[in-house]
This record gives sequence, C-alpha cells and structure tokens, in this order.
Amino acid sequence: MKILVTGGLGYIGSHTVVELQQRGHEVVVIDNLYNSQESVKSKIESITKKSLKFIKMDATDYEGLLELCKLETFDGIIHFAGYKAVGESVKEPLKYYHNNLLSTINLARVAVELGINKFIFSSSATVYGDGVSPFDETMPLLERTNPYGETKAMCERILTDTAKASNLNVTLLRYFNPVGAHESGLIGEIPNGIPNNLMPYVTQVAKGIREKLYVFGDDYDTSDGTGVRDYIHVVDLAKGHVAAIESTKTGVNVYNLGTGKGTSVLEIINAFMDTNKINIPYVITDRRPGDIAVSYADATKAFKELKWKAEKDINEMVKSAWNFEMNLK
Ligand code: NAD
Ligand code: UD1
Repeated sequence: MKILVTGGLGYIGSHTVVELQQRGHEVVVIDNLYNSQESVKSKIESITKKSLKFIKMDATDYEGLLELCKLETFDGIIHFAGYKAVGESVKEPLKYYHNNLLSTINLARVAVELGINKFIFSSSATVYGDGVSPFDETMPLLERTNPYGETKAMCERILTDTAKASNLNVTLLRYFNPVGAHESGLIGEIPNGIPNNLMPYVTQVAKGIREKLYVFGDDYDTSDGTGVRDYIHVVDLAKGHVAAIESTKTGVNVYNLGTGKGTSVLEIINAFMDTNKINIPYVITDRRPGDIAVSYADATKAFKELKWKAEKDINEMVKSAWNFEMNLK
C-alpha cells in the first residue's frame, strides 16, 4: 500500500513509519516540525535501509494536501499530526481546537474528495474520562477534563459522521500510555521542556537532568496507593497501526491499543531501577489535578479483529527508554 503519514517524524509516527516500511509499504510523511526534527527522517532511513519521502507541510493546509494527494494516489492515511500537551491545552484551548480539528477535517475532506478510503486516527484513552477500568470500546465516552481530550472526542465524532455519509472507512485507535523507544536507540520520545509524562521524567532523573521524581499521590485505591496505567511499548503500538491499516473494515471501527495490564508508578520506578541498575530518587507529593486512579484497556477486540496484541513487557519498555535517553546528546 501507499500510505500518507501525517506527523510521521514525531514519537509514535516515526516508529510506525519504520514498521510500515519494514512490511513493504510505501510511505510519504508530512510534518510541520512543530514538535520534531528533520533529522528523524535519516534515522528512520538508517533503521529500515529504505529511503523515505518527507515533505514539510502543515496538515491544516487543505490546498497543499489536495495537491499532494492528487499527485501521489494514496491507498490510506494515518493521521498522527496534532498537539498533545494537556496542561497547555487548558491555557491555550483555541490553539488546540484549531490544529487538532482543522487538520482532521481537511484531511478527511481530501480523502473523501479523492476516494482515499482508509483513514486511521490517533485517539486516546482519555476519551473514557473517569470511567472504570478495564475500558472497552462499547463504553460511553465520559466528560473530558481538558481541551486536548475534547479534541480527540470531537475528531472521533467528525470522522464517524463523515464515514456514515461517504465511502470513507475510519479506524479510531485509542492509545493507552505509549512508552519506550526503538531498540536501535535512534528514535524515541524527545520531550519539549520539562516532561509532563512519567517515563521521560524518570529517564531525565536517571541521567541527572532532574534531581528527583515527584510521585503524584500514594493514597489512591490501588495496590500500593500510586496511579495505575496501561503502559504500552511504542513499537507494539506502531505494529498496531500496521495491523489496523492492513485489515481496515468498512464503516467505523474503534480499537483500544493497550496491553490490558495495569502497572503502578512505584512498579515502573522499581522496574527501571532493577533493569537498568540505576537509582531513581523520588518523593511522594500531592495528587495531580485531573488524574484518575486507574486506567487500563480491555484489549481483546484488537486481538480478535486485527490479530494484534502487545508483546513487549515493562522491562523492555524501561530498558529501551533508558537506552534512547543515553543516546541523546
Ligand atoms: P508528537 O508530538 O511526537 O508527534 C506529532 C507530530 O505531528 C510532530 O512531529 C509534530 O511536529 C507534528 N505536527 C503537529 N501539528 C502538525 C500539523 N498541523 N501539521 C503537520 N505536522 C504537525 O506526538 P506523539 O506522541 O507521536 O503523538 C501522535 C498522536 O498520537 C497525536 O495526535 C497525539 O495526540 C496522539 N496520542 C499520543 C499519546 C501519547 O502518549 N504520546 C497518547 C494518546 C494519543
Ligand atoms: C497523560 C494525560 C493524558 C494523555 C497522556 C499521554 C493528564 C491528566 N493525562 O496521561 O490525557 O493522553 O498523558 O500524553 O495529563 N506521574 C507521576 N509523576 C510524574 C508524572 C506522572 O507520579 O512526574 C504519574 C501520574 O500521576 C500517573 C502516571 O504517572 O499516575 C502516568 O502519568 P502520565 O505519564 O502523565 O500519563 P497519564 O496521566 O496517564
């Protein structure tokens, strides 16, 4: 297949491009480099030993997208491009609504107009809100606590309505907590400024960039009192996209991409210390506003219908995350 990947130089996109190329698909990446660097292209190429076509383009640019898609005749689109910082979305909601909605609307318009009928969208477990885990795809979406989460729910809705009114086949992938990096150590997550997410904060503490980790609360109703999440290795997540585009079904299909297993913050810290033989100083502090106690997936639907399941365990996640951090200059 020939596939357009938006945001393909970012964290999840770059790993997905690697897996797509390795499966023999032809990939064209567009990215506006808002949260990535052009050097990621050559890193992908050195992993796959294949050349990658990259065009610096904004996914909100309808005319540019139309011209590109007329020229290239794609079989499908995987849409990663978007902003993802929860805290920033609260402070600058319009920036988030503009980028995340407009890119999705304009890509979908082009797809419908040109008959590109496979569309894969990066959604998030955040659409389940404060529901009770394990989350399954039939659960009603609960109130989102921030504009970022709201953009994901709105894009899901926009794409669902579009699919009903056209030949577009839409696959909504709800990611749980992607962590880790490619085993080569060449691509991974490069956070902008102080990391908000747990794993990049842990690796920066390990490297000495930050003094200690703040564990946000130990009084949740969980085994050790700290928050529980479904961490998924980014390479497994990337493979989930390959499975999704290769087995696209008609209409709208929604899949959780997670492991189905919850891991607490203290379990992550301990796994990181044991596997990498490095100490992580930490203190327990207040809960972070907006956090829920427990979030993990019911991942059986993706297994049944896409024949995909996550295979890498927590040790591989913490090992690859640390390997990538050590390679970063
Ligand atoms: P990322 O920031 O690393 O990658 C996004 C890429 O899109 C970046 O390279 C950025 O430069 C690019 N981009 C942003 N706006 C663009 C635009 N208008 N036009 C062209 N390029 C644009 O983020 P990621 O972690 O790889 O996430 C990818 C997608 O998955 C996002 O939509 C994100 O919301 C979603 N998601 C991420 C997570 C997570 O934990 N990382 C969880 C759930 C969902
Ligand atoms: C967060 C976002 C979510 C987004 C996801 C991926 C919030 C409320 N949720 O999810 O919308 O889709 O990132 O970008 O921001 N933790 C610490 N110390 C830290 C960082 C995190 O203890 O320095 C804890 C958290 O309380 C949580 C767990 O680690 O229990 C995971 O946190 P994080 O990596 O930020 O992911 P989520 O909160 O699940």
